[in-house]
Amino acid sequence: MITIDLSGKSILITGALGAIAEPMVRKLVAAGATLILLDIKPEAAARQTLSDWKIPPASYIYFPTDIIFTSSYVARMPHTKIPSYASAKAALESFARCMALEYADTGIRVNVVSPGDVAAGSSLRVFDEDPAYREFVLRVSLGRRNSPESIANAFLFLCSPLANEINGQILSSDFGAGIGNRL
Ligand SMILES: NC(=O)c1ccc[n+]([C@@H]2O[C@H](COP(=O)([O-])OP(=O)(O)OC[C@H]3O[C@@H](n4cnc5c(N)ncnc54)[C@H](O)[C@@H]3O)[C@@H](O)[C@H]2O)c1
Repeated sequence: MITIDLSGKSILITGALGAIAEPMVRKLVAAGATLILLDIKPEAAARQTLSDWKIPPASYIYFPTDIIFTSSYVARMPHTKIPSYASAKAALESFARCMALEYADTGIRVNVVSPGDVAAGSSLRVFDEDPAYREFVLRVSLGRRNSPESIANAFLFLCSPLANEINGQILSSDFGAGIGNRL
């Protein structure tokens, strides 16, 4: 059995109170990591959310902050209706690779997780309300949407010693949706 032990590690997460972040925070804490959590939500609201998630206060430090790194399959797949979102994600991937080169000598690794359409958070409403979007997502992702847990597993892997030699990479967890269109 392979277990991931992150005790002694400090891991910083931005946008740490969102739907995709929830299982990520749970899994990293369960693996023993200390978390530095950043989100734009005020501290009292953040502490309430983390308490609802049953995250022990001793396992995290929270800073209300404006910041940055989860990409999306649309970064590499031109898409109608969301040009600014897709372009921003493409820029984020390039920025992360530049940072990976910049910090390579220091031992800091910079990688990106790229989900497909996740059955949580920011895409819930458009998936529920737009039949054309729903049909597209189910067609390109083999009829399934990503679970937030699968995205959390990708983060857990990249934070773990199993990924010690992985740097500047985009790890897609998207059922292959980002590869291209399927007829
Ligand atoms: N849900 C999906 O289908 C999907 C698919 C691909 C990629 N993504 C990406 O995954 C990430 C998380 O998405 P989600 O669905 O969990 O969204 P969400 O809206 O549930 O969570 C986003 C979190 O980020 C915080 N936030 C927003 N702006 C911020 C800022 N400037 N600084 C710090 N924190 C900020 C919000 O307060 C919120 O807690 C996003 O980058 C999104 O683009 C989501």
